Amino acid sequence: MRELDETTITHTVLQRVGAAPDARVRRISEALVRHLHAFVREVEPTEAEWQAGIEFLTATGRMCSDTRQEFILLSDTLGVSMLVDFINHRQPGAATATTVFGPFYTPAPDFANGADIKGHLPGRPMYVGGSVKSVDGAPLAGARVDVWHADDAGFYDLQKLASSPGLAGRGCFRTDAAGRFNLWTVRPAGYPIPDDGPVGRMLRAQGRHPFRPEHIHFMIQAPGHRKLVTHVFAEGDEHLDSDVVFGVKESLIKPFERRSGGSAPDGRAMEGIWYTLEYDFVLAPEAAQP
Ligand code: BEZ
Ligand code: FE
Repeated sequence: MRELDETTITHTVLQRVGAAPDARVRRISEALVRHLHAFVREVEPTEAEWQAGIEFLTATGRMCSDTRQEFILLSDTLGVSMLVDFINHRQPGAATATTVFGPFYTPAPDFANGADIKGHLPGRPMYVGGSVKSVDGAPLAGARVDVWHADDAGFYDLQKLASSPGLAGRGCFRTDAAGRFNLWTVRPAGYPIPDDGPVGRMLRAQGRHPFRPEHIHFMIQAPGHRKLVTHVFAEGDEHLDSDVVFGVKESLIKPFERRSGGSAPDGRAMEGIWYTLEYDFVLAPEAAQP
């Protein structure tokens, strides 16, 4: 058809992309066109608004670098990353809930259980202990446990490389024969996601704050099991109900217990204020893959 109009264009574009030889490409292209056209029909943007949208996406791309992924932030702040996570992790109820990966992971050095990973990060001492089990309750020995978190001002080591070179507040551990791991670090703080770019402008225009509640990231891997990417959130944080990336799940909230002096779970004599966190992780079997 040559003479397209407002009522026929969607059907014509759908016919054109419906010829894609690959079934998955066809499905995705058709859905993209249907939803995009429906969006435009609903919003009826002015040409200036459409141009502003193009400029927003262009700025989002320009903001990306080796250390900044603005498109992931956009996906996160629109709840799309969590929706993809929900769809891809329909796993057994007993398995630990998953949540967003985030942009601040980088492979970290191996440490022995009990090591201190704080490096140059400032903050109060925090002891983190945990177990890794399969859904039938069997302890998983030799599981790989990656941990990463921000400092007491809410900054990751990767955000401070210019002033404090070197990795800190991250490490890779292996569970022992009882499926346990433990480490020392410093208690992190909640933080705003990077909001000096287009995503920050979007949040302000939407009347939203940029904060994530205080959390520690974990990525746990064991043969025969699905890789678990999750965080544990600090009970009582003021942003638990309004996480800017929608990543909080009730089962991932735990007290970061405050202690004063005394002796730590590993026997270390403590002075002043310190914190403890204990979390038992459960991995889904590989067969639970959707
Ligand atoms: C994070 O928790 O590291 C994070 C997740 C999503 C966006 C920004 C930061
Ligand atoms: Fe984080």
